Amino acid sequence: MYKSFFGLKENPFNVNPDPRYLFLTKQIEEALSGLMYGVQTRKGFITLTGEVGTGKTTLVNRLLDWLHLRRTKTAFLFNSRMNSNQLFDFILAEFDIPCDNRSKSQQLMKLNQWLLERYRAGETAVLIVDEAQNLTFPVLEEIRLLTNLETSTEKLLQIVLSGQPELEDKLKLPQLRQLRQRITLRCRTMPMTKDQTHDYIQERLRIAGAAPQSGIFSPKAMDTVHLYSMGIPRVINLLCEHALINSFVDQTPVIEPKVIEDVAREFQLDEVEPIAPPASARQDGDVFQSEAFIQNLGEALSRFRMSPSVPSSRERK
Ligand SMILES: Nc1ncnc2c1ncn2[C@@H]1O[C@H](COP(=O)(O)OP(=O)(O)O)[C@@H](O)[C@H]1O
Ligand SMILES: [Mg+2]
Repeated sequence: MYKSFFGLKENPFNVNPDPRYLFLTKQIEEALSGLMYGVQTRKGFITLTGEVGTGKTTLVNRLLDWLHLRRTKTAFLFNSRMNSNQLFDFILAEFDIPCDNRSKSQQLMKLNQWLLERYRAGETAVLIVDEAQNLTFPVLEEIRLLTNLETSTEKLLQIVLSGQPELEDKLKLPQLRQLRQRITLRCRTMPMTKDQTHDYIQERLRIAGAAPQSGIFSPKAMDTVHLYSMGIPRVINLLCEHALINSFVDQTPVIEPKVIEDVAREFQLDEVEPIAPPASARQDGDVFQSEAFIQNLGEALSRFRMSPSVPSSRERK
C-alpha cells in the first residue's frame, strides 16, 4: 500500500530469506565463499553458525541457487525436528533416489551406490540441514556415519549444517567428539555494523525500485535502526517495514528517528528481556510468526545487550 507513496516497486523489507536481496558484507562474502569453496573442493563437513536473524537461511538459499546453476545435486532439509528414519526418507526423497525398501541399511546402500555414480560422473552431491541446532544426538550420529561414505581419497557427500550458536555448543559435547573432529570448515554470519546497516537499508530500497540515494530514511533514522536492531538484519527489516507503514499513514515522505523509536517501543525492543514476555503482555503481529521466534529474538538481543562489542570475532565458550 505504501509502495507508490515511496516510489517502490516491491516491498523492500520482506522477512522472506530471498537471495535476490542478499547484501554482501565482508563477513557474508567470506561465509559464502567459504561454503562454495568447501563444497567445490569436497571438504566433506561444513558448519554455518550465527545468531537468529543474521542471514543464515538467506545465505543457504544463495548457495542453493549457485549449486543449481552448476547442476549439483542437493538435498535441503529445513525441518530439523526429525528422527533417524525420517532423515533417510528425506534425503532419498530430496535426491530423488528411488527406494522401495524402508530398512535403513538398504537405504544407506542405495544412497552409497547413487553417490558413487554421481562421483564417477564428476558430479557433487550436497546435503544441507538448516536449523541444525535442533538435531537430536541419534540423528547427528547418523550424519556422522554419512561422512564415512567416501572413496579412498574423497568424501562422496558434502554436508552443510546451518544453525544458531547452540549448534556449536552441541558439537562441543563429548558424545559428539567424533562428529566435531570431522568438521573441516566453519563459516559464520554476524550482526551488521552501523555503516553496514546504512548500506543494507539503502541496498534493499534500491533493489525494491527506489531512486538512487532516495533518502526515504534519514541518516539519523538509520542510526536509530542500528541501535534498536543491534545490527540483526531480521530486526532491521521489522523496524524499517513498520516505519514505512507508519510514515505512509502519516503521509511523511522522509523517515526520522522518532518513527523508528515508536516502532521499537511498539515491539518492545527498547526493553527486550532474556525470556519472552507472556503472550497476554505482548502485542499481536504477524511478524512474530511463532513463540520460538520471539523467544529466540529476545535471547539473541539480550546477549548482545550484555556485551555491546560482540560482533567481529566473538567466540562462544
Ligand atoms: N546479508 C543479507 N542480505 C539481505 N538480507 C538479509 C541478509 N541477512 C539477513 N537478511 C534478511 O534478514 C531476515 C532474516 O534472515 P534469515 O536468513 O532468515 O536469518 P537466519 O536464518 O540466520 O535466522 C530475512 O528477511 C533476510 O532477508
Ligand atoms: Mg534461518
